[in-house]
Amino acid sequence: MKVSTVVLAAGYGTRMKSDLPKMLHPVMGRPMIEWAAKTAQAVSQLPPVVVVGHRRELIEQLLGDQVRYAVQPEMLGTGHAVMQAATLLRDQADVVLVTYGDMPLLRSDTLQKLLDLFLQLHASEQAMPAIAMLTLARDDAQGFGRIIRNEQGDIQGIVEEADCTPAQKAIRELNPGIYCFDGAWLWKNLAKIPISAKGEYYLTDMVGIAVAQGRHVATMFAPLEDVDGINTRVHLANATAVMRQRILEKHMLAGVTIVDPGTTYIEDTVTIGTDTTILPGTLLQGSTQIGQHAQIGPHAQIVDCVLGDYCRVIYSVLEQARMDAHSEIGPFGHLRKGAHLAEGVHMGNFGEVKNSYLGPGTKMGHFSYLGDAHVEGNVNIGAGTITCNYDGAHKHKTQIGQGAFIGSDTLLVAPVTIGAGATTGAGAVVTKDVPAGALVYGVPARAPHVVHSVSKIPENE
Ligand code: UD1
Ligand code: MG
Repeated sequence: MKVSTVVLAAGYGTRMKSDLPKMLHPVMGRPMIEWAAKTAQAVSQLPPVVVVGHRRELIEQLLGDQVRYAVQPEMLGTGHAVMQAATLLRDQADVVLVTYGDMPLLRSDTLQKLLDLFLQLHASEQAMPAIAMLTLARDDAQGFGRIIRNEQGDIQGIVEEADCTPAQKAIRELNPGIYCFDGAWLWKNLAKIPISAKGEYYLTDMVGIAVAQGRHVATMFAPLEDVDGINTRVHLANATAVMRQRILEKHMLAGVTIVDPGTTYIEDTVTIGTDTTILPGTLLQGSTQIGQHAQIGPHAQIVDCVLGDYCRVIYSVLEQARMDAHSEIGPFGHLRKGAHLAEGVHMGNFGEVKNSYLGPGTKMGHFSYLGDAHVEGNVNIGAGTITCNYDGAHKHKTQIGQGAFIGSDTLLVAPVTIGAGATTGAGAVVTKDVPAGALVYGVPARAPHVVHSVSKIPENE
């Protein structure tokens, strides 16, 4: 049985009140349509078909060729949206799942259960269903279609809230809008949907059509959390909270201590080793990978970084940087793109490193900026050291050799090389290369003056 999923994503999302299309609003770092596409992919053998309309180029740009697209030129309802996928899926998919692009919390497990129910019934000839669908039970029924059942409890149809009688309005079994269709039956019968009073084609009418033909429609209760769609920014924040908790629980169950889940944000792309502790106020984002026994936070933001075992990050911001095992930064450190702290490096308060390597055991305790520098191991970077790496037009490199001692407040005017074991005095402005083992000081920095001869004091004066 070939399964595909149609993800409906053509709607305007006007209630978001945003220039950004609703489908692109992020939930824990991923646009909501990406979550929906991921779930669809997990259960489909054929690539999912995303039905696009409003600002479709943005969705197509985001999802690329992971999915296929069907264009709905006019918003004529959910039934009309599914019709647009017919040319791609007719005679291709035996089973067609329908989901929404604005339901990022729908888990692939839930969708798989619905599919399993359909396939089970399909295998038993007596109860071959035209549709298996999710329903939900909730006191707050606002906006949802109501599930209509007969006295035997068999589903008869779905009535949209606007079309409900007062008695139907009181029904608390609701339609989340997630269906599993017999593909051949779907394409044969979609055109039978009548046009509604609102001028739309309701996919929900397929239930009544199946029942009228004597075909079975199966239902399964959905976990409430999964089918909470997003219409407003209030829903967006609620969905983010649920997604966040799911990700945190996954890490906690895998051996990561999260001291305060309420103030911790970890995107689902991040990996963390066991026995690492995440302290309050921490954001871990993008492709970040953290080793074991690390201590992150309080108050750290780490984006697209790789951190080894036993690293410590306190009140700091790290982006596209690397910290090897046992290195530490903070409070108030900033690692920018291309910063690499080797094993055991210590960076104290108010340091910034960009596109630079700091070798094993190097220490940079206070108020320093290193940009475009290659610093070998066991170097002492004195307080206030600055690489003057930019001359207004170009960036230049600074090299510092093994074991060098850079005095407090040294300015390293790049390009410049400080040899191994060399020393710069406090306040030095280094404009020329310093040989290994040498001492320079002053402005501009030079070696101490060597006195060769003492001139004679003139006589008779
Ligand atoms: C729909 C259901 C309703 C259900 C509710 C659950 C119908 C007629 N009604 O109502 O029973 O309780 O979902 O959320 O199906 N979309 C398109 N093209 C369209 C219209 C919608 O792609 O022409 C997409 C939207 O982008 C959205 C999804 O379909 O992702 C649902 O559309 P929406 O307008 O929210 O449907 P509801 O009126 O809420
Ligand atoms: Mg809706």
